[in-house]
Amino acid sequence: MKINNKSFQRIIPTNIRPAYYRAQTDIPYAQEIWQTLIKIKNISLDNLGSFIQAQPKYAERYKLIDEILNESGITQVIELASGWSTRGLSFCKSNCKAVYIEIDLPDVAKNKSDILKQMGEIPQNLHIFEGNALCEQDFTNASNYFNPNKPIAVITEGLLGYLTFKEKEQITRNVQKLLTKFKGIWITNGFKPSPNKTEELTQRYKFSKSITGRDRQINEFKDNEHIISFLAKFNMICDYHSFNGGEVKIVKINE
Ligand SMILES: C[S@@+](CC[C@H](N)C(=O)[O-])C[C@H]1O[C@@H](n2cnc3c(N)ncnc32)[C@H](O)[C@@H]1O
Repeated sequence: MKINNKSFQRIIPTNIRPAYYRAQTDIPYAQEIWQTLIKIKNISLDNLGSFIQAQPKYAERYKLIDEILNESGITQVIELASGWSTRGLSFCKSNCKAVYIEIDLPDVAKNKSDILKQMGEIPQNLHIFEGNALCEQDFTNASNYFNPNKPIAVITEGLLGYLTFKEKEQITRNVQKLLTKFKGIWITNGFKPSPNKTEELTQRYKFSKSITGRDRQINEFKDNEHIISFLAKFNMICDYHSFNGGEVKIVKINE
């Protein structure tokens, strides 16, 4: 599959909303990163309009992913499409033996490094890579930081919903290769069945398409059977944890 960063560029602004909502919570460093981000990018709340109208359950989802990661005991992590998430920063600050790799598109990754530097020193065990989650080479480069004798956790929060099925397959293939080599788990909210259509959701998807150019509705999994058969093609299985307003899947190689 030919991968071109340009076709993902319009997804970048979707990282504003979760960062804004997390900044209203007790999530470590979330307020700090938001304040630094709006200063650096010159973002004005007045211009964000519909971006911050709905209040999805970003904080609950974030905390549930943290909980699953901490319970797993895994200390080697690769977070794809990490955006302005502060999980890597807090994980590395509280665990000096951890290795945490973040990958996002070049525009975001560059800004993220600058922002974190403004907030203080970037922990030595946190690595922020410019890359594309669909590119196998970017995975290989990132995984060179991991100890091959220890398992890894892959985290993907909030990207898969924007991708076509072909693109979802490419990411899944990349993750499958990593999990086959290192063992471990993929924690993601990206495998969820199509939600009930409400007027509010229709408007949200319409707005999302106007920003990203991507139609979320046609790229949804029909139901859980659809998700199970999609993952089975990669010899993967999943389990899930619910939170108020959604669920997070834990995907593994079927051994
Ligand atoms: C909805 S945001 C989620 C950000 C972050 N995970 C969070 O929860 O705040 C989607 C992110 O995906 C990134 N992205 C889009 N396409 C990508 C790709 N092909 N590879 C890596 N990152 C990508 C965007 O730059 C953006 O930061």
